[in-house]
Amino acid sequence: MFFSKIQKSLVSLCDYYKDYFSVGTALSRWTLFNKGIEQKLALKHFNEFVAENLTKPMFIYKDENTIDFTEADKYLKFCKKYNKKIRWHTLVWHAQMPKWIYYQDKECKELATKEMLEARIKKYIFAVMEHTKDYVSSYDVVNEPISDKTYKLRTEEDHSFWQKILGPDYVEKMFTWAHEANPNAELVINDYNIESTIGKREGMYNFVKEMLAKNVPISAVGLQMHISVNDPPVEQIEETINMFGELGLKVLVTEMDVSVYNFEDKERIEYTPELLEKQAQRYKEIFECFKRCAKKGYLTDVVLWGIMDNCSWKNDFPVPGRTDIPLLFDGKGKAKPSFYSITEE
Ligand code: XIL
Repeated sequence: MFFSKIQKSLVSLCDYYKDYFSVGTALSRWTLFNKGIEQKLALKHFNEFVAENLTKPMFIYKDENTIDFTEADKYLKFCKKYNKKIRWHTLVWHAQMPKWIYYQDKECKELATKEMLEARIKKYIFAVMEHTKDYVSSYDVVNEPISDKTYKLRTEEDHSFWQKILGPDYVEKMFTWAHEANPNAELVINDYNIESTIGKREGMYNFVKEMLAKNVPISAVGLQMHISVNDPPVEQIEETINMFGELGLKVLVTEMDVSVYNFEDKERIEYTPELLEKQAQRYKEIFECFKRCAKKGYLTDVVLWGIMDNCSWKNDFPVPGRTDIPLLFDGKGKAKPSFYSITEE
């Protein structure tokens, strides 16, 4: 049975945390365009939205002469209608970019020159910033720039052409252009496993420290926080937020979910009440940590990567065909123990 109504008696999650940070969620196309239970939950419990996919460059930058905001505008209008804070994800990434952008020819054989790619991405950044400036307050300027192998900027080996074509100062350029286009915007560098892999954290830390020393206009570090019920320890999460906060940057949690699997697990496990309780305790201790970090002025936003378990990107990733239950509401839209654990004294 599908619930057609949401549980009215529940406290609104974002109201509950309003003195600490905004609580956001990723909107899928489904949630945005269907007035079903997930949309109702989105509107009740979250005061900030980010598009799960439809503001990614591959859906907007159709070809050299076409920057198409038709779909993105529907998302912006929806958020505006309900007075939600809006994040833009993402201007530059190595994934979900239009393939043509990296090439000279239609057949995608010869890589673009530095001048070509620079002109294309600069045009895109200015177009997006100009088009969205009355709606959006926070932008992921560069997503996932740090390599999992070297902990330095990604190279071709990590499936990124950006450094190869533009050179090692490309990240600085993206932030500088974004700032030029909209000096009031919050500009975020966003990545995963920063809170869980110490080497990657050092890499990001040193990278942003250098950017700050060069006066690059970066405002915040985004921690995606696709974590698991087992790892990383909450102390390490707190230490990570504090490290960046002490550097003078804001910290945003941008894509949180709490998988019941470790990343390397292959087998499906049974979703027992004990497991749901374990997940609830994990959410609880982490949200307590978020409150402490918010009180220090470091953490400003906590954004979850979805609402209901059945719609999570973690179904099928990293193991195709396997489900996961990383979010706060189950597949029927009913609040899980994790929801209650973070909204009870
Ligand atoms: C994911 C979406 O959730 C999926 O629907 C899509 O197929 C692939 O991208 N890090 C990011 C997000 O920055 O954009 C990704 O979103 C999840 C990992």
